[in-house]
Amino acid sequence: MTHRIAPSILSADFARLGEEVRAVAAAGADWIHFDVMDNHYVPNLTMGPAVAQAIKPHCVRPDGTALPLDVHLMVQPVDDLALAFAKAGADLISFHPDASTHVDRTLQLIQGAGCKAGLVFNPATPLDVLDWVIDKVDLVLIMSVNPGFGGQSFIDSALRKTEAARRRIEASGRDIRLEVDGGINADNIRRVADAGADTFVAGSAIFGRPDYAAVIAAMRAELAR
Ligand code: DX5
Ligand code: ZN
Repeated sequence: MTHRIAPSILSADFARLGEEVRAVAAAGADWIHFDVMDNHYVPNLTMGPAVAQAIKPHCVRPDGTALPLDVHLMVQPVDDLALAFAKAGADLISFHPDASTHVDRTLQLIQGAGCKAGLVFNPATPLDVLDWVIDKVDLVLIMSVNPGFGGQSFIDSALRKTEAARRRIEASGRDIRLEVDGGINADNIRRVADAGADTFVAGSAIFGRPDYAAVIAAMRAELAR
């Protein structure tokens, strides 16, 4: 299985965001994870489409490889902002099904705008909605913390939920990424992979250290074990 590391720039130095994105891309990131919070769905406020548009040209490795911009919407309502992020250059757009009144319609809207569409599940949210829309989903994102802040501790029940999501993805026969977000570091990433995840968000574990490449290499070494 191909494993992807998706650094969350929520924990980057916002005063030097473009530089930080380039640095983490050069350090071996596969996707750039972009957390959007609206002080309504979650009790915090972060970045909008203008910031996504500004950093998009920086989502690139030194060899010129462009990295997907992975937008995680923690907003309610969803639709208008999803479209604004599609226009701003998002490659993947994920939303929380409980934040959209018409989940099927929102998935279609995102895909119609040319992006991959993802559903995000909070620690206490069941996966049931997948029974009805898995044919329209490109990404399942399991939250291993309650959304709103970086630097929280990993919630272990996310491992069971990741296993359950993997089973549903296999049963669907579709090409769907399974991403886990919150409290991931080099010490627990292997357990997350063993539960079936293929994509790993890490914010504070990477940006909280001076050497991003060393952290990402340590994560990859664990994944390769
Ligand atoms: C939380 C965000 C996460 C967060 C991860 O609401 O969705 O992406 O930034 O940060 P760490 O890795 O520090 O838990
Ligand atoms: Zn996130």
